[in-house]
Amino acid sequence: MTEAKLISALNKENLSHFSKTYVPSRLLLGPGPSNAHPEVLKALSLNPIGHLDEAYISLMSDVQELLRYTWQCNNRLTLPMSGTGSAAMEASIANFIEEGEKILIAKKGYFGNRLVDMASRYKADVSVIEKPWGEAFTFEEIKYEIETKKPAIFAIVHAETSSGVLQPLDGIGDVCRKNNCLFLVDAVTSLGALELLIDEWKIDLAYSCSQKGLSCPPGLSPFTMNERAEQKLSSRKTKVPNWYLDLSLLNKYWGSDRVYHHTAPVNMNFAIREGLRLIANEGLENVWNRHNTNAKKLWNGLESLGMELHVSEDYRLPTLTTVKIPPAVDGDGFKNHLLRNFGIEIGNGLGELSGKVWRVGLMGFNSCEENVDRLLNLFDTELKKFSIFESSTF
Ligand SMILES: Cc1ncc(COP(=O)(O)O)c(C=O)c1O
Repeated sequence: MTEAKLISALNKENLSHFSKTYVPSRLLLGPGPSNAHPEVLKALSLNPIGHLDEAYISLMSDVQELLRYTWQCNNRLTLPMSGTGSAAMEASIANFIEEGEKILIAKKGYFGNRLVDMASRYKADVSVIEKPWGEAFTFEEIKYEIETKKPAIFAIVHAETSSGVLQPLDGIGDVCRKNNCLFLVDAVTSLGALELLIDEWKIDLAYSCSQKGLSCPPGLSPFTMNERAEQKLSSRKTKVPNWYLDLSLLNKYWGSDRVYHHTAPVNMNFAIREGLRLIANEGLENVWNRHNTNAKKLWNGLESLGMELHVSEDYRLPTLTTVKIPPAVDGDGFKNHLLRNFGIEIGNGLGELSGKVWRVGLMGFNSCEENVDRLLNLFDTELKKFSIFESSTF
């Protein structure tokens, strides 16, 4: 093609206006992504190698072994799917639901809604149980619904990032087994940060993301499934209606054969190996304790400044705190001020909680005392500037 034929936006003169890619420095204390660990960034910047190179194949095995430790499971099929958390979420629906099959979804926030939307797109017979955004289900409520509705799959979000609720999961796996139902858990905001015991809690299927507890950029979604799930997959009567996320095809690459399926995002896999290695080095229980301790420090600090938290302490989520915006405060103004003047991101409320709460995340590398102190100090000194009434105190 001659230069004269290039469309104007792409001609040489216009392109020369672009400077080198620049991204401002940010401390990400919102719902995610969280900052990546410096060692993860180093791994990410290594030169790519082939996705079938023996060095890469050995790295894949490391990632799987480290993921099994972080998930606390022995599942053969444990892998980082290409794509963000929603990719493995969709894989969990696309592979395990056939048209007309019953799925029961316990919805208590935005991400429960996403599961409902996905399941209906795959033509599942979807039943929903609901809780207000800010509450958790009791074990009895879930048991009753599974026993009466008899679904093929029961799905629930462990850590609801929209409301800041941590859902207790203990005992649900037994109920699912007794009722011949698969237990599916969204662990996007809990993996690598909060206690999560896939084998012990009898979770059959779970998915997560790379950009929160694992201190990596977004781009991979860890997934794990046990033998019960493998059996269900192999007894499908119809083809999985999504080629990219078909686990029987992915199994040929991440299972023993290492046969090409799609070009793996190799650098993201370098990154996740490093993020998982850092967790293993610190020790999973230490990682969980660190997240709990820093969250408590944040909660106490906010309360002592007069702020109210949206979720009761019994099921408050340590990785994501929903803080009520006081009635006399310009919530967006304060959030934007933190970003523009201090480089700190906190999140808006989502869906039902839009305009009512800020969402503060302490996840992975970012869960540290120094970040909590920095944010509390800004709530103390800056928030009063966003009072709608001059004399307001919080
Ligand atoms: C609980 C939960 N589930 C699913 C997702 C979707 O993940 P992603 O945005 O990485 O696709 C998110 C995103 O933050 C989430 O918080």
